[in-house]
Amino acid sequence: MLTGLQPSGPLMIGNYIGALKDWVGLQATHESLLMIADLHALTVPQNPEVLRRRSFEFVALFAACGIDIEKSAVFMQSHVSAHTQLLWVLNCMTPMGDLQRMTQFKDKAGRRAMDAQVGLFDYPVLMAADILLYGADLVPVGDDQRQHMEFTRRMARKFNSTYGQVFKIPATCTPRTGSRLMGLQDPATKMSKSDPNPDNYVALLDPPEVIRRKIRTAVTDSGSEVRSGASKPGISNLLALYAAVSGERTESIEARYAGKRYAEFKNHLAERVIDFLGPIQKRYRSIAGDRVLLGEILRHGADLARERSETTLARVYEAIGLVTGRQDDRR
Ligand code: TYM
Repeated sequence: MLTGLQPSGPLMIGNYIGALKDWVGLQATHESLLMIADLHALTVPQNPEVLRRRSFEFVALFAACGIDIEKSAVFMQSHVSAHTQLLWVLNCMTPMGDLQRMTQFKDKAGRRAMDAQVGLFDYPVLMAADILLYGADLVPVGDDQRQHMEFTRRMARKFNSTYGQVFKIPATCTPRTGSRLMGLQDPATKMSKSDPNPDNYVALLDPPEVIRRKIRTAVTDSGSEVRSGASKPGISNLLALYAAVSGERTESIEARYAGKRYAEFKNHLAERVIDFLGPIQKRYRSIAGDRVLLGEILRHGADLARERSETTLARVYEAIGLVTGRQDDRR
């Protein structure tokens, strides 16, 4: 199992529910690699100091969220050079048209596609390399990564049918509820950690009073019923958040708030979120200052990731006809 998160903003509740929550359960049965996708984060401008600080914050938060650092390898994408090496090989097999059709590229580049950076355009190919290098069976991600996962599978099949069986075809694993949480202030757009308006998301490290304010001021819909539905995007989104943090089914939450007002529902939701994040924040505070431990986690993770990825990369190079450089290479 492998997944990645970009240190492009503070880790927020959508990232936890979309990717980390399932991870915590699955690490008992799957060998696990958890990657901080710092190279992917460079596809949009980053402040160097903030990027470095946030990368360490991610490591501490992963551990605080229940990632077992003995079982799961946590590593920085930039520490493992096989990612960019496989990226190049895959680039040489990727039609530009495939990347032009990617919705995330279209959203981020807007109408000025020719002015967008090559890295942003190439983003899905690096993600395919991340996954295929480790022969991942399972990739826990939110709904917004589905198209990238489809692309990864397509590239793996294409490579295998051209050069022989090298890559495994990975499956996507998305959560039952909360696979696409929407912005609190704008339920028409996805909740995102890189949103310039922090009121659109609940960060994992937001203090209780900030969480209360963000949820109290979250956009709701006309009408007064606490019910999910296409005509109620704001309340539907808050119900999805409630269901994800409480583990309850949406129908039973709706039944509990039948005839109650939005304000009461929002107050309770805020307390649920605070209770949910409280233990994570407490654990975070106990490890965040230990740079030695965090560095050690990353070193250990990178060692394992390098070992795994280099084996795959060697198979790829051999399959496509690069001279391997091994002394016993007679071909
Ligand atoms: P990133 O950093 O944008 O998001 C990390 C994870 O959080 C999920 N997510 C959400 N889930 C529910 N609701 C939301 N509003 C929401 N926003 C984000 C994302 O789906 C993701 O699972 N391309 C990836 C990083 C990546 C990666 C990989 C993932 C790089 N290489 C290899 C898996 C495998 C990304 O941008 O995630």
